[in-house]
Amino acid sequence: MAILRGDDPEAIRRAAEVIRRGGVVAFPTETVYGLGADAFNARAVALIFELKGRPRFDPLIVHVADPEDVKRLWQEVDSRARKLMERFWPGPLTLVLPKRAEVPDIVTAGLGTVAVRMPAHPVALALIREAETPVAAPSANPFGRLSPTTAEHVLQGLGERVEVILDGGRCPVGVESTVLALDGEPRLLRPGGVPVEQIEEVIGPVKKDLRPTRPEAPGGLPRHYSPRTPLRLLQRGEEIPRGLKVGLLAFKTPREGFVRVEVLSPSGDLREAAARLFEALHRLDSAGLDLILAESVPEEGLGLAIMDRLRRASQAVDKSQRRER
Ligand code: TXA
Ligand code: MG
Repeated sequence: MAILRGDDPEAIRRAAEVIRRGGVVAFPTETVYGLGADAFNARAVALIFELKGRPRFDPLIVHVADPEDVKRLWQEVDSRARKLMERFWPGPLTLVLPKRAEVPDIVTAGLGTVAVRMPAHPVALALIREAETPVAAPSANPFGRLSPTTAEHVLQGLGERVEVILDGGRCPVGVESTVLALDGEPRLLRPGGVPVEQIEEVIGPVKKDLRPTRPEAPGGLPRHYSPRTPLRLLQRGEEIPRGLKVGLLAFKTPREGFVRVEVLSPSGDLREAAARLFEALHRLDSAGLDLILAESVPEEGLGLAIMDRLRRASQAVDKSQRRER
């Protein structure tokens, strides 16, 4: 296993070589770190599922370095997709459209659609260009756990199992991409780095039915993005439970009485809060706490993605289910 500097062209060449010969590489994007393989190599993609312990029914996002490359993946680029790509790519917006037959079934979990995005991160773009193939990549964490926003998180989560980790520092957006289905009426499958309000400015109304167990977007599984430490949302006026070591994930202002407090954004800026979310949760999770209480944030802009992750992290689950993930 090697951690290489993402800004070193020689490191990019080495990592791209790993991808070309069917291996797996962890790399930074503007949202979270990804665990990537050649999207057209089914065996390489199978390795991603193995390393993450991810169920095969959960499809992957394919990353491109040039909007033109979608032609190798989608049957057709409709006018809505075209407009959204012009406005938001490169960036944290993933679009789901009918796939070409050449895209291996393992990438899409057998679905007739494939999710694609062009990341806005120089290291990710350099890697995909140098590998000369679209790169299928989920977030670089064990399935169901907190997403990684630093190379250190990747190392802690997947450790020696990854051949190469490209280190690009902190991910500036900090929450995963927005996933939007365009194989019919536009449907929000996962809130993320591009606020849905901005998408609606470009293509009009988007369906936002985010019920937790839609099988078509297992990122929508009820419990996901979870710390090991139990987490729940702090209720208004709630007393801190006695006799437990309790940590607080605060939005703007720290509070007394907690063993450990992480503040997301002292100025109340939702973008800053999103950028710090997973890092703050990773720190709370390694602080030896019995419980993490999380304050709610306003559900607008990036707040929708933050609350989605916090709700999923807080879903109670029995032990057998927890072991599965
Ligand atoms: O920001 C991101 O999107 C990061 C970085 C690495 O790009 N990737 C990421 O991948 O979050 P992952 O695998 O953790 O989440 C992918 C989400 C899942 O919720 C999955 O179910 C959904 O995208 N998805 C992928 N392909 C799909 C498809 N064909 N139809 C519906 N949902 C799909
Ligand atoms: Mg993930």
